[in-house]
Amino acid sequence: MNKQVAMVGWRGMVGSVLMQRMLDEKDFEGLDVTFFSTSQAGQPGPAMVSGAGTLVDAFDIDALAAHDVVVTCQGGDYTKDVHPRLRAMGWDGYWIDAASALRMVDNSVIVLDPVNRDVMDRALDEGIKDFIGGNCTVSLMLLAVHGLIQRGWVDWITSMTYQSASGAGAAQMKELVIQMAQIGAAAGEAAAESGAPVLEVESTVSDLLRSADLQIDQFGAPLAASLIPWIDRAMENGQTREEWKGQAELNKILNLNPELPVDGQCVRVGAMRCHSQGLTIKLKQDVPLADIEAAIRESNDWVRLVPNTKEATLQELTPAAISGRLDIGIGRLRKMTLGGDYLTAFTVGDQLLWGAAEPVRRALNIVLGR
Ligand code: HSE
Repeated sequence: MNKQVAMVGWRGMVGSVLMQRMLDEKDFEGLDVTFFSTSQAGQPGPAMVSGAGTLVDAFDIDALAAHDVVVTCQGGDYTKDVHPRLRAMGWDGYWIDAASALRMVDNSVIVLDPVNRDVMDRALDEGIKDFIGGNCTVSLMLLAVHGLIQRGWVDWITSMTYQSASGAGAAQMKELVIQMAQIGAAAGEAAAESGAPVLEVESTVSDLLRSADLQIDQFGAPLAASLIPWIDRAMENGQTREEWKGQAELNKILNLNPELPVDGQCVRVGAMRCHSQGLTIKLKQDVPLADIEAAIRESNDWVRLVPNTKEATLQELTPAAISGRLDIGIGRLRKMTLGGDYLTAFTVGDQLLWGAAEPVRRALNIVLGR
C-alpha cells in the first residue's frame, strides 16, 4: 500500500515552492496525498496534482492521524496547536515541518541531509519522528562551508548577513516592490534625465523614505534604497533571535560537542528571495587556499565555487543570478590580511529553495525510505 501523506500549508509561499519542487521531481508518484486546509475544507484540492481530491480540515486531528506522514508549511502557530494534540492521542507518524516551533526541542532533528544525513539516519534508527527544516540563513551557510567544518579546520565563524524580503514573508516581499514603485514614481523620471542633478534625485528619494507616504506597514521602516539591521525579536544578551539561531541551530544540525562558536549581525536588504552572507572563518591552522577550495567543491552537489574576480562575481555571485536556483554560490574566497588562519568568503543561496522547501522535500523522501 502507498504511504499516506498529509500536506498542510501547501498554498503559502514556502508551500508553493515545495509543491513545485515535488512536481518537478515527480515525488507525488507512489504516494497517496491528502491535502488539508485551515480555511477551505471541502473545496477542490490542487489541480496540478492528479487525483488530489477535496481539501480536508487541517484541524481535524483524527483525519491527520490516519496518515503515515504529516508535512506542514502552515507556520509555527499551527504546529504549536496541532502537533501536541496529535502526539497526545498516540499518533506515531512522521511530522515534517518547515516552521521553527519544534526545531530546538530535544526529540526533534533539524533536517539538512547533504550535511547531516548521518544525524538524520541515527535519529530514524532511534525512533525520532519529528523532522524539522532549519533556519534559512543557517542552512545556506552550512551548505556553503560544511566541507571546512567536516575536516575539523574551523575554530569559529562570524556571519554578516544580507537577508532577502522573502525571509520575512509574502506580504513583506510585496511591500518591498511597492516601496520600489513609490520611489520610481517620485524620482524615476528625473533619474532617467541625463542632465538632472543627482543630488536632487537623491533628496527626492530620501525625503520620500522619511515621509509618511512610503508604505512601511510590514517592515516598520524603508527597505528599498535602505536596509534594516534587525531581524526577529530581541534576546537578553543583545543578539537578535536570528543571530542567536546561527550557533544554536548549526550545532544541533551537526550534533557538535563541543559547540562551534558562530555569531554575527543579521541585516534585511532589498533582495527578493536570496540570502547572502559575508563570512569570517577563523581556522585552527593556516590551511592552504587550494585545500580549502577543494574541500568546498567536494562537500556537496549544489555548492558552486565562484572565482574571486569581478567578472565572475558579478555574473555568478549575486541574488539576481542565484534566485530560483538550487545552487549555493560561494566566492570572494581569500585569506584575510589578519593572518593565514583567517579566511573570508561571500555566499548566496535561494532562501525559499535550500533555505526552506528543499530540505523538507528531501526529508519526506528520506523518512519514506526512498
Ligand atoms: N528568519 C529568516 C528571515 C527566514 O527572517 O530571513 C526563515 O528562516
